[in-house]
Amino acid sequence: MLFHNINVVAAVLSALLLLAGYTESANILHVIPFSAMSHYIFLRHIGLELAQRGHNVTVITTHTEKNPPSNYYQVQVQKKQIWELIGGERPNIFDMAELSSEEFHHKVVWPGGLAFTELTLNSSDVQEFLKKDNTFDLVICEQFVQEALYTLASKYNAPLVIISTFGNCMRHNIMTRNPLQLATVLAEYLKLNNPGNFWGRLRNLYFTVYEYLWWRYWYLEKQEDLVKKYLPDLIGKTPSLYEMQKNASLMLINSHFSFDTPTAYLPNIVEIGGMHVRKSNKSLPDDLQKLLDESKHGVVYMSFGSNIRSAELPEHKKKAFLNVFKELKQTVLWKWEEDVLEGKPKNLFTGKWLPQQEIIAHPNIKLFITHGGLIGMQEAIYNGVPIVGVPIFSDQYNNVLLAEEVGVGKLLHYNDFNEDTLNKTINEILNNDSYLKTAREVQKRWNDRPMSPLDTTIFWLEYVIRNKGAEYMKNPARNMNWFEYTMLDVYAFILLIIVAVLAFFLKLILIVRAIVYGNQTNKMTKRKKRL
Ligand SMILES: *[C@@H]1O[C@H](CO)[C@@H](O)[C@H](O)[C@H]1NC(C)=O
Ligand SMILES: *[C@@H]1O[C@H](CO)[C@@H](O)[C@H](O)[C@H]1NC(C)=O
Ligand SMILES: *[C@@H]1O[C@H](CO)[C@@H](O)[C@H](O)[C@H]1NC(C)=O
Ligand SMILES: *[C@@H]1O[C@H](CO)[C@@H](O)[C@H](O)[C@H]1NC(C)=O
Ligand SMILES: *[C@@H]1O[C@H](CO)[C@@H](O)[C@H](O)[C@H]1NC(C)=O
Ligand SMILES: *[C@@H]1O[C@H](CO)[C@@H](O)[C@H](O)[C@H]1NC(C)=O
Repeated sequence: MLFHNINVVAAVLSALLLLAGYTESANILHVIPFSAMSHYIFLRHIGLELAQRGHNVTVITTHTEKNPPSNYYQVQVQKKQIWELIGGERPNIFDMAELSSEEFHHKVVWPGGLAFTELTLNSSDVQEFLKKDNTFDLVICEQFVQEALYTLASKYNAPLVIISTFGNCMRHNIMTRNPLQLATVLAEYLKLNNPGNFWGRLRNLYFTVYEYLWWRYWYLEKQEDLVKKYLPDLIGKTPSLYEMQKNASLMLINSHFSFDTPTAYLPNIVEIGGMHVRKSNKSLPDDLQKLLDESKHGVVYMSFGSNIRSAELPEHKKKAFLNVFKELKQTVLWKWEEDVLEGKPKNLFTGKWLPQQEIIAHPNIKLFITHGGLIGMQEAIYNGVPIVGVPIFSDQYNNVLLAEEVGVGKLLHYNDFNEDTLNKTINEILNNDSYLKTAREVQKRWNDRPMSPLDTTIFWLEYVIRNKGAEYMKNPARNMNWFEYTMLDVYAFILLIIVAVLAFFLKLILIVRAIVYGNQTNKMTKRKKRL
């Protein structure tokens, strides 16, 4: 009887709890215009999980899910590589290690962003989809450089959520007036050797302003042109793209303070670092499983990610790796994109494609040699694996530098590493257990959160839907005048008062002095006369 009552109470309570956090099945549009695999590996979980939880999800994307849930719709954009779009052959991506952060923006980021936005808007499936009479309760866009697509939030009169697959975004901080923290927080794509010293901070300030001005006054105009060209019936009916991003309900960013630099954020900027990584229940292919299980000295895993082909390494760098690997007692597993690798030593195994998450999760992995892409780095952190990073472009340099500072890895400069430095670095990490120990500590704190990053993501998305855009979470300072926001008018007023008071007293002193001095000279002249 007692038991029965407790059960009833429990049932009622959990029903109430469910109701409190309940979000009715919503119609959600998720736009992923950029085709890079690393971005999709991260973003795909959002739509799939929302669908799993009963929402009606539509994703505009260049990638295809093979067996999606029935309430998961895909609007297909033709899959193209960035090189096909911005003209020319696929370059050897290792050459990008030479580009400055400014050149990287002008040669890759801006033209790539415009091309992918246009590819998406011009796609016949997307055009067809936009003609239909759909309604959406939420529009989620990747925050990269495809702002024209924010217009869809306005078209469907739905709150906008933006997601960055890298961390913090300076442009967003500036426009929403999130504190910039330039002394500790780096512009996301800036290569910097000594972020904390005077020149580093100066460079960070310079680059942040440089990027913002180009983006705001040149790039956004080009994005506006794409809106006019492909969404002509919305002309005059939507706010500017700048206003739309400023008014976004929520920004989700791929970082977490347990590894990344602790930073102050507005309540509607939420960290979901490592949302794509979880305990995988997939098993490894038999041959790989056997190889990893049986390598009693452990395994070194090397991959330069989905964009960079290690088969394109210059001959002398490739030789350096092979010579160092040959003398290791560990087994080496290398993502190598061609059939043959000449001079392959006995302890080296290659695969054109390797199931990275499952490999890094294997307890015998001792070291991950990476280009420092955030997605792979987070898989290493999640599994407590030390890294050696050879960064090539974009945020990779900062990611590896951070790993080195935290003590879970070492950075090798692509331009000047050789067999000797490579050997020293790899052996240092394999033989000095401080890196593994630190990696295990970071792993523990990385996974120590009130909710998993995926649950956090879904919570905040549903929160925005439940609260109809959560207008109250947005920073009121974003609509203020710059001198009001910086309090310059108030400081100027205080300065004015101080100056006025000082001037008053100065005048007073002069007057008093004039009187006293005047009296004295009067007395003196009188005395002189008497004499
Ligand atoms: C789900 O979204 C699609 C648009 O992709 C729409 O055609 C369909 O009617 C929606 N279903 C429900 C139940 O709202
Ligand atoms: C837009 O798509 C059409 C085919 O649907 C194609 O002929 C045209 O070249 C495309 N325009 C751009 C600018 O990509
Ligand atoms: C693995 O997990 C997925 C989703 O979490 C589930 O659908 C699948 O059945 C699981 N597979 C195995 C072999 O447990
Ligand atoms: C790498 O360094 C180790 C000592 O740490 C040495 O035994 C080995 O011969 C070196 N390998 C190469 C290729 O220089
Ligand atoms: C191991 O590495 C740590 C961190 O870099 C360093 O402080 C320590 O001296 C190293 N130990 C040895 C024996 O080299
Ligand atoms: C800002 O977004 C909300 C929905 O979140 C919308 O109601 C409002 O009209 C938008 N304001 C501007 C200026 O775009």
